[in-house]
Amino acid sequence: MLKLLFVCLGNICRSPAAENIMNHLADKAGVSDRIQCDSAGTANYHAGNPPDRRMQAAATNRQIPMLGSARQFTKADFTAFDLILAMDRENYQNILSLDPQGQYQDKVKLMCDFATQHPDKEVPDPYYGGADGFDYVLDLLTDACSELLSQLEARNFTNV
Ligand code: 4NP
Repeated sequence: MLKLLFVCLGNICRSPAAENIMNHLADKAGVSDRIQCDSAGTANYHAGNPPDRRMQAAATNRQIPMLGSARQFTKADFTAFDLILAMDRENYQNILSLDPQGQYQDKVKLMCDFATQHPDKEVPDPYYGGADGFDYVLDLLTDACSELLSQLEARNFTNV
């Protein structure tokens, strides 16, 4: 079982969306027994909180359940997970700053590197923006998660 961890800043908008979208796509593809998904935030501001209501509403419109409770990323995640997907470059740098020897850096990737239908290099933070931001994030994450899942399937879930 390949273990994936999606990481953003607060773990209430982007990374729980990525986690739940990936679970949804894996269910639809009949491969939910091959991957295990979780999410975390580099900050602990929202630890214990459910996903942001606006993200829950946007996801519910697409019949995607938005489950989970926020937690902070820790060093132990480097060994607990096979693949760590950062939503933006700041998340990526903050994750790597906890691995000064660079021993886990190959596990850490930018989510947008998997997007094939969107030009974005980072998943924009929708927290302080308008409601449209949540739908855009869901579109972008669905694109990136679909491609990531295809690559994992092609490699028989031995990582990318
Ligand atoms: P996320 O969004 O990183 O996608 O969960 C944010 C949530 C909360 C804050 C910033 C971004 N905040 O500053 O509280």
